[in-house]
Amino acid sequence: MSTQSLLKPSASITKSQFPKDFIWGVATSAFQIEGAATLDGKGPSIWDEFCQLPGVISDNSNGDIACDHYHRYENDLDLIQSLHVNAYRFSISWPRVRPTGSGEWNEAGLAFYDRLINGLIQRGIKPYLTLNHWDLPAALQHQGGWANRETVYRFVEYAQGIHARFGDRVASIATHNEPWVVATLGHEQGIFAPGIKDRAIAAQTSHHLLLSHGMALRALRAEGATCQLGIVLNLAPMHAATNSLADLAKTQLEDGKLLRWYMDPLFKKSYPNDVWADLGVDAPIVHDGDLDIIATPMDFLGINYYSRTIVSAGEPWDAKSNGKAVSDMGWEIYPEGLTELLLRVHNDYNVPPLFVTENGGAFKDQINDDGRVHDVERTDYIERHIAAMYAAMQQGVKMGGYMVWSFLDNFEWASGYEKRFGIVHVNYETQSRTLKDSALWYQDFLQHTTTDGK
Ligand code: FCB
Repeated sequence: MSTQSLLKPSASITKSQFPKDFIWGVATSAFQIEGAATLDGKGPSIWDEFCQLPGVISDNSNGDIACDHYHRYENDLDLIQSLHVNAYRFSISWPRVRPTGSGEWNEAGLAFYDRLINGLIQRGIKPYLTLNHWDLPAALQHQGGWANRETVYRFVEYAQGIHARFGDRVASIATHNEPWVVATLGHEQGIFAPGIKDRAIAAQTSHHLLLSHGMALRALRAEGATCQLGIVLNLAPMHAATNSLADLAKTQLEDGKLLRWYMDPLFKKSYPNDVWADLGVDAPIVHDGDLDIIATPMDFLGINYYSRTIVSAGEPWDAKSNGKAVSDMGWEIYPEGLTELLLRVHNDYNVPPLFVTENGGAFKDQINDDGRVHDVERTDYIERHIAAMYAAMQQGVKMGGYMVWSFLDNFEWASGYEKRFGIVHVNYETQSRTLKDSALWYQDFLQHTTTDGK
């Protein structure tokens, strides 16, 4: 544990400094918490299939039970309400509501989200819905998945079906969560589902994700959508390890791959030249008119922020061995990067209001003898990042909200259940939930307009 993280949170920030209508939430995703993997007609997703491959999930686990949220949602909604948040970001499992991604819809699956959304509304919590948090129906993968342009049309149908059913009850619909992760980790590095290692397929995947986002937005607008529509990107400032020409050049290219490859088509109707040139023959097939569709105006842009990236042209730069404070993922704790990132996005692009749709940390938690989880580092992390976001707002960035990742400890993809991101602890044997000290801090922050009682 670093000395820095043992100190009392340095930044003293209060809710009263923010606009009255600011959105404060917690976030989860379907595959990571729901379980009930084969229940009530749910079809398999690419993550269900990926988890069956030997050695891909570090603890050999899967999402079959996860947090059993499918059965425990009422209790979980009560817990969310007890935090005093005004929003909850969750995702719909596409194969739960349309098991093969085309053809019949599954009423039992839709009914679960009816119960969830109605339960949120009854508790005064705004539903923030994400359509694709990575769990593509496996049947669509068997026909080529995101690399197949047909999947774009299936996604638009899915978006329309969800909007027709829930659109008048949710505050917001985000099309995709972190398309870079789906394309690069899922299709180039192969460490996430569907486990493909092919740069051309990854590039085509990223284009189809963006295209399906734009097409879905147009379709929902044509249907008179009243909720806020947008997308969620994972972004990070890129800093060069040294001032060497090689490090600086690689940093520029990595920035292009992570940020400009997504932000430029969304807001400038073009792919960045340097990344396109670097792809060479692996560049995606783009039809006439695709870029116009991708750049369809949005109501909000969601940004997931965890850390910066330090780029070296040599060996990958490791934060911990370079003496930086890190989380249990090994990611550097760097709140000032959030201010920098928000300002950069605000200055370089004509963006709608921004939301921090995910921010949080994995730490080695344990339940103490007093029955509590004293997660000082997570509390410190969250408070400092809220302060960093506020610093960007003071410099003119229009922010709509902030959501902690995550409400619950959950299935952390290739890390299985070994990494805990929740502000609520989950005992996976008993499924009992315990509010960690970070949850109590957030509750206090949200409940009191000032920490000194004013
Ligand atoms: C993000 C994902 C989310 C969670 C966090 C830690 O990339 O969107 O599901 O895994 O990282």
